[in-house]
Amino acid sequence: MSEGNLNLYFDNAATSWPKPEPVYGAAEICLRRMGGNPGRTGSTRTIDAERLVYRARACLARLFHATEPSRIVFALNATDALNMAIKGIVNPGDHLLYTAMEHNSVLRPLGGLSRAGLISTTMIPCSGDGDPDLSFMKRSFKPRTRLLIVNHASNVCGCIAPIEEMIEIAHRHGAHVLIDAAQSAGVLPIDVQSLPVDLLAFTGHKGLLGPAGTGGLYVRPGLDLKPWREGGTGSYSEMDQQPPSMPERLEAGTLNSPGLAGLIEGVNFIEKTGLEQIRNHEMKIYTYLRAKLAQIPGIKLYGPAEPSRCTAVLSFTMEDIDCGELGYILESSYGILCRTGLHCAPLAHQALGTFPQGTVRLSPGFFTRKEDVDYLCAALEEITALRSC
Ligand code: ALA
Repeated sequence: MSEGNLNLYFDNAATSWPKPEPVYGAAEICLRRMGGNPGRTGSTRTIDAERLVYRARACLARLFHATEPSRIVFALNATDALNMAIKGIVNPGDHLLYTAMEHNSVLRPLGGLSRAGLISTTMIPCSGDGDPDLSFMKRSFKPRTRLLIVNHASNVCGCIAPIEEMIEIAHRHGAHVLIDAAQSAGVLPIDVQSLPVDLLAFTGHKGLLGPAGTGGLYVRPGLDLKPWREGGTGSYSEMDQQPPSMPERLEAGTLNSPGLAGLIEGVNFIEKTGLEQIRNHEMKIYTYLRAKLAQIPGIKLYGPAEPSRCTAVLSFTMEDIDCGELGYILESSYGILCRTGLHCAPLAHQALGTFPQGTVRLSPGFFTRKEDVDYLCAALEEITALRSC
């Protein structure tokens, strides 16, 4: 059955592909026809670029139900936004809580701050399905606990964290909450009014279907962060510090307007299609995929089995074959793209019992079809059969 050049894409948790057609067009039009630097001087081109940036802010504010677009701060990606949030909120001597499902985009900044002697941290353990231990969490707050960081949906096994309950507990203990929405923005409904989240980091190139190099941080009104990056904003140029007003307080340098032009179209696609329809399709594919994989001898599946408890991210291992080798065979012999290894989330793999070897991760998206799953599963069956000969 080998069709090595098919390019069947099962790696949407790394970056979504393909993008809706208007995403490509909008980035190209911006690059070819706009050419102004948003917010710098008053020429028509810079004003057009500034309007585009405002439209991007407004459409993300609408998607997340934020009342003020100025509270959406643009960043390079979720990692950048998480650094901005963590380094902008902590003070020396603070204590932070985080879950075992966090990505290195959280673990490494926390590790750096801890090694510098600036903060202390406590990890909330998670079950083999990725569920955080809430009784452990309740016992772990200290007088100086400033921040709880929670990965909304795991990039390893798709497990959705009970963020409503976690936010309520953290607020009761006087701590702020930072949600890592890298895998959930554009995938699960997020309403920052009904969910009283303090900080929400997102990326533009995954579920929001936009280009790489886009993302941002929602900062709830009333919460002030220390600027993590400083520089030109096109405003208050006489001051030798970041302006007090948002979003300039946390943004500096020229923004990625072609990327944001594409991101607007990604969000427009989601709004026109409907988040519910996107989720229904992805979970239908996930359920079909999980059921078919479960029938292949030697395959072990990880993460919650119930679709309501996860996003369309599925990790598995196959008996007697290294996951990196399996990923290589899938691409080179069958044209199937996925991600293998630790997925930059070593503690999540420890919780799942797959450290240090990791897993093969399949992440279908809105454009994945049932026949793609059939082809993938036939490839895995063929690999199993050939290896047992
Ligand atoms: N964080 C991304 C992933 O899980 C890149 O693949």
